[in-house]
Amino acid sequence: VNLPKLLREMPKAELHIHIEGSLEPELIFALAERNGVKLPYANVEALRAAYAFTNLQSFLDIYYAGASVLLHEQDFYDMAWAYLQRAAADHVVHTEIFFDPQTHTERGVPMATVINGLHRACADAQTQLGVSAQLILCFLRHLSEEAALHTFQEALPFKDKFIGVGLDSSEVGHPPEKFKNVFALAHAHGLHLVAHAGEEGPPAYMWSALDVLRVERIDHGVQAVHDAALMARLAKDRTPLTVCPLSNQKLCVFPDLKDHNIGQLLDAGLCVTINSDDPAYFGGYINDNFVQTFEAAGLTAQHAYVLARNSFEASFVTEAQRQKWI
Ligand code: ADE
Ligand code: ZN
Repeated sequence: VNLPKLLREMPKAELHIHIEGSLEPELIFALAERNGVKLPYANVEALRAAYAFTNLQSFLDIYYAGASVLLHEQDFYDMAWAYLQRAAADHVVHTEIFFDPQTHTERGVPMATVINGLHRACADAQTQLGVSAQLILCFLRHLSEEAALHTFQEALPFKDKFIGVGLDSSEVGHPPEKFKNVFALAHAHGLHLVAHAGEEGPPAYMWSALDVLRVERIDHGVQAVHDAALMARLAKDRTPLTVCPLSNQKLCVFPDLKDHNIGQLLDAGLCVTINSDDPAYFGGYINDNFVQTFEAAGLTAQHAYVLARNSFEASFVTEAQRQKWI
């Protein structure tokens, strides 16, 4: 078989993509121009040259600066629509998209502007691209739980426009249990729960994401290999891990893609998925993640089938819809 062709053309779900991380430098500059926002970079090339990251925080600083050009509902629509077209080209048939409202509301952008723009793009993806797209609201963990609770209250009038809540931004020093109350509240509202854990942070953060926040999926989770009991738990419960190999390489979680532990996670029987995280910053969309990871880790067509199947198993679609894809 032509493995790269199989990887690129197989139907798949993407479950770990930050919409602000899909903002390409060209669109950042176009929106800066349209909105009269001054950027601390002279041009697209200068901005791209700054994409040399040493860890998560060095990326986040630039990622939040890039998002500062987003002001109007159409800006959020244009960003999401660009991603959705790109995802459709990669044969993504279903995507669950993270967004960081606090990055925008802290700059005075209304919650309605953010959610309505993103949601309109998701609705158009279904009708115009045949891609089903849902939104997951993420809390910024470097901010307080009080700020997260305030954000959640602001988002509640739009509860029909997102399916769950997540937790992202600077991991180390901000354990999941800091957000126990807001996750319990989101659960009481019938929302799905996910959290970033075990990207740079220790296995202990994965345990508390599971046992304190009661999340259904863990985003990244690659540090689980350092805790045998955790590996057994994840395998037994089939708790999905939304792994993002190019992100892990670019943020120096692993020295090189060939050092990534995805093979070990798959061999242990975990429900692993492959995703792009922040494709505009990490040098590739989902299919680039598949092709480069398979090459580096020596994965096979059988792994391709397992990963595609896992992506649908791990998704928050109805059982009837899942059966159509599996
Ligand atoms: N926000 C965007 N990408 C992220 C990542 N990889 N980890 C934590 N927060 C993020
Ligand atoms: Zn992420």
